[in-house]
Amino acid sequence: MTIFSAQSTIFSRASVALLSSNGFKRFSFASSFSSNAVYSSPLPKMKKRRHPIVSAVDIGGVTIARNDVVRDDDPTNNVPDSIFSKLGMQLHRRDKHPIGIIKNAIYDYFDSNYAKKFDKIEDLSPIVTTKQNFDDVLVPADHVSRSLNDTYYVDSETVLRCHTSAHQAELLRKGHRRFLVTGDVYRRDSIDATHYPVFHQMEGFCVFSPEDWKESGKDATLYAAEDLKKCLEGLARHLFGAVEMRWVDTYFPFTNPSFELEIYFKEDWLEVLGCGVTEQGILKQSGLENNVAWAFGLGLERLAMVLFDISDIRLFWSSDERFTSQFAKGELGVKFKPFSKYPPCYKDISFWISESFTENNFCEVVRGIAGDLVEEVKLIDNFTNKKGMTSHCYRIVFRSMERSLTDEEVNDLQSKVRDEVQRKLNVELR
Ligand code: DAH
Repeated sequence: MTIFSAQSTIFSRASVALLSSNGFKRFSFASSFSSNAVYSSPLPKMKKRRHPIVSAVDIGGVTIARNDVVRDDDPTNNVPDSIFSKLGMQLHRRDKHPIGIIKNAIYDYFDSNYAKKFDKIEDLSPIVTTKQNFDDVLVPADHVSRSLNDTYYVDSETVLRCHTSAHQAELLRKGHRRFLVTGDVYRRDSIDATHYPVFHQMEGFCVFSPEDWKESGKDATLYAAEDLKKCLEGLARHLFGAVEMRWVDTYFPFTNPSFELEIYFKEDWLEVLGCGVTEQGILKQSGLENNVAWAFGLGLERLAMVLFDISDIRLFWSSDERFTSQFAKGELGVKFKPFSKYPPCYKDISFWISESFTENNFCEVVRGIAGDLVEEVKLIDNFTNKKGMTSHCYRIVFRSMERSLTDEEVNDLQSKVRDEVQRKLNVELR
């Protein structure tokens, strides 16, 4: 289900552990990005896998074993291998990658406007407790984002963070008062050019003391809201130049009032971030009941797609030199030149769904088989017959960004999709 098209916020519009404490082993690694995935060998001989199974990943010097995250023995676990393999990638820590370039440009803005007073944190593990991800930021018990359909669960109390807001409370408790947290976040979602189950967010947080707002003669909440808007308007201009922008009132469980910032881009309003004045309940947990704070969360892929003209979100994960060589450290906004558009191949699949069917589950099956060769999954027909049975027809668009696909290859993928959908999703193929 797409709650939000922008992949930057899920919690608005009422719709959307650290390792040692999880018992994972700690090892020291020389932390180089290229060596962070450890491939199990030998690979099973008979099976040609599109995603080699990764047996362990390194997150900031800590080794996480596959079997601690992808678990067949726990019915709550819904993390596939394709997601596990992304855990140590840390695109936001690569200075020559569009995601890292944007992060650095935002750092520059905060460093120069706030005299380096914002702490920058970017190595927190994406494996967090449900308390961190939801309870600490006041996400209601029945909120849709808590469902297995929307979030990747390692076990019933551990998830792959679905937003960087998961770290607000822990950082406040540790004494941080102004900070920027950047990291990879994970969401089960539909498939198209702007949605990918892993993307990157940056969270900003700023606490004020009574002296700050008393001097201004304004009420604390108004003071924080005005400061927040001024800060983010400045950031948008720093990134986009003289753009038109507008504020939209919205809802988030963790802020009140809450806003979204939209910028006018290619003849449309585009939501780029969510933000607001932090709920007192969050501050109280850290003994900050006499303070007021603002917070924001922005989606880095969303900004990068606009700034670098990158039309497909899968490209961020490409190691093809024709992609990677187009970006350089510190160069914001170089326009990406598509190296080629290979032909798409369309395949339809129809089935009678069961009550438990969800589109996210279907998309996960397709991604598990086709990986980044799937560009889009679209519902093209949906009807219910006289007996009350509902049929869905999906069109799957296969397209590689790097080469032409053969008919044989696509037929093979589609036949695997058919088999697996039937086996895993309790549907009846038509
Ligand atoms: N966590 C929100 C999301 O991913 C984004 C967000 C909105 C973060 C408002 C904030 C905030 O810190 O104040 O949908």
